[in-house]
Amino acid sequence: MQQQRITLGILFGGKSQEHEISLISARDVIKQLDRKRYEIIPIGIDRQGHWWWQDNIDRLNQITTPQSIPLHEQSRAIALIPGSTQTFMTLNTPYEKKRLDAVFPILHGPYGEDGTVQAMLEGSNIPYVGAAVLSSAISMDKTIFKCLLRDAGLPHAAFHTLRKEAYRGNTADLEMIIAALGLPCFVKPANLGSSIATHKVYTLTQLKTAVEDAFQYADQVIFETFIQGREIECGVIGNDKPEATLPGEVHVHHDFYSYAAKYLDKNGASLTIPAELPASIVQRIQQLALQTYQLVGCQGLARVDFFLTPKEEIIINELNTIPGLTPISLFPKMWEATGVSFPDLLDKLIDLAFERAKKQSLLKIDYTPI
Ligand SMILES: Nc1ncnc2c1ncn2[C@@H]1O[C@H](COP(=O)(O)OP(=O)(O)O)[C@@H](O)[C@H]1O
Ligand SMILES: [Mg+2]
Repeated sequence: MQQQRITLGILFGGKSQEHEISLISARDVIKQLDRKRYEIIPIGIDRQGHWWWQDNIDRLNQITTPQSIPLHEQSRAIALIPGSTQTFMTLNTPYEKKRLDAVFPILHGPYGEDGTVQAMLEGSNIPYVGAAVLSSAISMDKTIFKCLLRDAGLPHAAFHTLRKEAYRGNTADLEMIIAALGLPCFVKPANLGSSIATHKVYTLTQLKTAVEDAFQYADQVIFETFIQGREIECGVIGNDKPEATLPGEVHVHHDFYSYAAKYLDKNGASLTIPAELPASIVQRIQQLALQTYQLVGCQGLARVDFFLTPKEEIIINELNTIPGLTPISLFPKMWEATGVSFPDLLDKLIDLAFERAKKQSLLKIDYTPI
């Protein structure tokens, strides 16, 4: 029997410092999706947060390095209809309503990976790929995430956080942080990714500059003890029964895996997939990846990142609910090494979105006390 084509919205761009990186992931996901199975509705979100239904998706193919494109050109402004049955509408004449069977948010960073867009999709009853609202928000917030790891007794770097209004700019506060965490240490905005405004600092003066830089991008900053170790990552997919990939390794050719090493310097890092590791360590990493995934209640997909120290300690660094999704990104490559091709992986992720929506629809919404 001929399967019905799925109308799939692909969300990309976003009100985030990682806007340009998302365009690249979206470009590659769209390329890999089977057009016989999916009718693709490409939706670009601009930096102001407006949603644009793209008529000319080929423009994405012209992007080679992270860069902006004028999303409002050759496109129609649209909005979701809250409370509707999976519908969005165009905001200018001729008005048009269109149903979405599912949405694949390919948005990195705030307003996309942090639960905000997920909440809008929930409100419009649209099944979507990936983590739901709370797990997305937890994973985006490095402080909350580390508090959960601490609570669960899972290994993580010692950390300290500071809110902007509590920062008085005096060195005594920073000296206390150095006394607690040592030098070098890391300074990062608490709720961003892609190493934006992330600094490895060696001196008090550098720490002060780094904090002030990080506060330009977020109202909360996290400080962490420097962990010397190999950077190992592990992919996970699934809802109730998640599965982990063989781990991969990122060899960083800079002082750390900075924005420049990730996106600007094409020799900034190299990957070994699968990572060269003894079977016992692979097993521990997979186990920790699954434990972390379930700890934050993730569904769909995530990439869990670790440090492996020379003493073979495995330290959890972070969990990304929307990892990079270009064919050369670690997440799809780790799945490939584990026996799942990129197109099959995307099909599985979309199936998982429907599976979750179906399970959710079975919950009673009218309460009958017993
Ligand atoms: N505590 C730490 N010890 C050692 N390196 C770190 C630490 N925290 C971050 N890094 C380095 O900075 C990079 C980016 O930090 P990360 O916490 O992964 O943030 P992002 O969400 O921006 O990727 C890491 O891949 C690693 O190279
Ligand atoms: Mg990271």
